[in-house]
Amino acid sequence: MGSVSSYFSLLTVLSVFAALFAIIYQGYLASLDLRSLTDILKNLNHLEFAVQVSKPRVAIGYGSCSDLYVKAVDFLNFTEALQRSLDQTTPFNVDDITTEDEFLQSFAYYFQRGAAAERFTGNKELFQKLVRLAKKHPVAEPRWALGGNAPVIGSRLASEGAEVVLAAKMSSKLKTHLRPDVRLTGSLIEEDDIHLILEYKTGDRWGTLESPRANRYILHSDYHNPFITSLEEFELWAGYSAVDQTTRRTTEYPDELKERELLVKRVLFFASSRTNESRK
Ligand SMILES: *[C@@H]1O[C@H](CO)[C@@H](O)[C@H](O)[C@H]1NC(C)=O
Ligand SMILES: *[C@@H]1O[C@H](CO)[C@@H](O)[C@H](O)[C@H]1NC(C)=O
Repeated sequence: MGSVSSYFSLLTVLSVFAALFAIIYQGYLASLDLRSLTDILKNLNHLEFAVQVSKPRVAIGYGSCSDLYVKAVDFLNFTEALQRSLDQTTPFNVDDITTEDEFLQSFAYYFQRGAAAERFTGNKELFQKLVRLAKKHPVAEPRWALGGNAPVIGSRLASEGAEVVLAAKMSSKLKTHLRPDVRLTGSLIEEDDIHLILEYKTGDRWGTLESPRANRYILHSDYHNPFITSLEEFELWAGYSAVDQTTRRTTEYPDELKERELLVKRVLFFASSRTNESRK
């Protein structure tokens, strides 16, 4: 009996050694990997400084905004009226929001699907009311950030060492959020376009609804961005003078869509003239 148990204890000791050896050997292999990785990184680092690249010059546009984030389910009221609308109407989805009821129904539509959405409202009164409530909300954790793809991407490129020119107009307050080495070609304005960003998490509950996925719903009432108001100053800065008079802003907008279509054409024309210029 004694020899059997000593046989097993020998086996135990052997397997402990085998396990220890495996662990040490794995560690040894990992250290080899780490050594070669360190060598690669060292050499890359060396190359970065050995080859001098002049600062890439980047012009980026157009527009910027102030992003106001709030927690959607803490901010928006789920009302009985909304529940009635949800029960009565077929799934609701419009492009332009005109009333508060439409806004809540539109938010509900995307919230229950966990889908991202961005909607415009021409109802300034509604939008200003929501912003006023959001920025002082006691529990919805409001916070501001520099918004718009151009300023965000521009700041990032500048932090990588690029020389960045940003075609945008912004308030002096928003400009303090921009890296000081990013050059702004647009003038300072009184009020930035604001994007109200209603964020929610997976499983957030709002009234009888639950979101299947974390996402955000953006409501805005942009004035500057849709009309690319920074375009003219940027063209002037670039020494580009072929301003097409038909796309100059007028005080009246008989046909907004037409005007915006012309503006996009003007941007494309400008970009292609710059590309041709740099090919010469
Ligand atoms: C939600 O309801 C409260 C109480 O009626 C009201 O004070 C608040 O302004 C409402 N919030 C929004 C975003 O409409
Ligand atoms: C740039 O060159 C292309 C191809 O040659 C031409 O089609 C386009 O009209 C030019 N753009 C401008 C603004 O001159």
